[in-house]
Amino acid sequence: MFSKTRLQLTLRNAIVLFIILISLSIALYGYMRVQLFNRVDQTMESMTTRFGKVLVAQATDAMPTLELSAPAFPLRQAISARLSNLDRPVYQLLWLSEDRLVSQSMMKELIPDLSEKEIQQFSPSKLNEDPQNVKIGEQYYRVITLKDQQVGYMVDANGGIREPIETIQYITNITTETDMLHSLFYVLLIGGGLGLIITILAGFYLADRALIPIKLSWEKQQLFVSDASHELRTPLSVIQAHTELLLRHPEQTIEQESRYISTILKETKRMNKLVNGLLTLARVDSNQTELELKPIHIDKVLNDVINQMNYLAEIKEIVIQTELDEAVLVHADDERIHQLLIILLDNALKYTHEQGFIRISLKKYTQTVIIEIVDNGIGISQLDLPYIFDRFYRGDKARSRADGGTGLGLSIAKWIVEGHNGKIHAESKSVGTRLVISMPLLTL
Ligand SMILES: Nc1ncnc2c1ncn2[C@@H]1O[C@H](COP(=O)(O)OP(=O)(O)O)[C@@H](O)[C@H]1O
Ligand SMILES: [Mg+2]
Repeated sequence: MFSKTRLQLTLRNAIVLFIILISLSIALYGYMRVQLFNRVDQTMESMTTRFGKVLVAQATDAMPTLELSAPAFPLRQAISARLSNLDRPVYQLLWLSEDRLVSQSMMKELIPDLSEKEIQQFSPSKLNEDPQNVKIGEQYYRVITLKDQQVGYMVDANGGIREPIETIQYITNITTETDMLHSLFYVLLIGGGLGLIITILAGFYLADRALIPIKLSWEKQQLFVSDASHELRTPLSVIQAHTELLLRHPEQTIEQESRYISTILKETKRMNKLVNGLLTLARVDSNQTELELKPIHIDKVLNDVINQMNYLAEIKEIVIQTELDEAVLVHADDERIHQLLIILLDNALKYTHEQGFIRISLKKYTQTVIIEIVDNGIGISQLDLPYIFDRFYRGDKARSRADGGTGLGLSIAKWIVEGHNGKIHAESKSVGTRLVISMPLLTL
């Protein structure tokens, strides 16, 4: 049951984390890319404004001349000007119509390491006007193409034909940037893969950790339910068996059958007690029970409970000695404290022989209140002592007694004390039992 939940939890965690990781990676990569290319584009655009539609005249007799509409520079001068002014070389290409380069012989060395044929890959007809990346061999270039520009004309050597120059391109080598982006891509890819593995492993571990308390409380709940049904079954079957015995002799009088009837009554009472205890604990488990805390005088509550239980003590000829400080104020739930004291006194009376004694003391210290209930009864064996606050746990000596205990009393008592930020513990030497409760004192 839990392994399936664990797997589901793990996968869900891993998927969520992985999506976050991937989104972050994509965002990082995209951001880096935009930043890098923006810088390149800005540099190139500053070229277009700085040099305007400037180009170059190269007037030698044998070659065509250029008639350009802006101030003219010798081509190579223009290039060196760019090199010194900008943080990266940006090259210009001029195109005639039909993807012909202006005076290819003049421009041969325009872009280092590129042959004429390779330069043809920048043909304006293949590119649109947005900045584009073009890969030639191992190198990457960023290209801005400005089409339909009236840059000027190329005039052939005889001054005969004038062809319009329509396209200017600005080109820069961006191999460093693309290499960087590629490395980043691989780093993110590997990082993402490792991240996925780690998320799954961590998710598995975390899901396991997260499930521990749930598992524990589930097991506790399971145990509670099975213990409860077990405990309820015993009185039920006793009642059933005795009722059947009664029906076997319908002619008998109640007096004659009183043995069976009193057993039925006793078991019914026990069941009533059990069901009440179970209800209290079930409400505690589902956090439905809240303590209504208000300032109360705990010595008064203690006196009430002692008076209420006194007749039981008289029946067993048990002497109850008290030593109670007065006006002991605590911040507490009246009814729960009452219930707590009944549980403890009931135990003390139940597990103390006739003519025994019970000593109850209430002491007020600077910050705490200590209640002690000591008896000289059957005591609790060292083996039982660690478990007496567990649900349904009944000590060995107690179990053999037909006194209708349920084993729920002390677990309810513990919950009440802890709900009041207090502590409870039990001690027992060879004879007798000492129960000590400490709670915070309310100082006004
Ligand atoms: N005053 C006491 N003297 C001897 N044993 C005690 C005393 N109080 C509690 N115990 C032991 O602790 C166990 C748990 O107590 P409790 O939860 O009240 O259950 P129950 O009284 O129904 O058996 C008892 O079964 C008994 O063994
Ligand atoms: Mg009890």
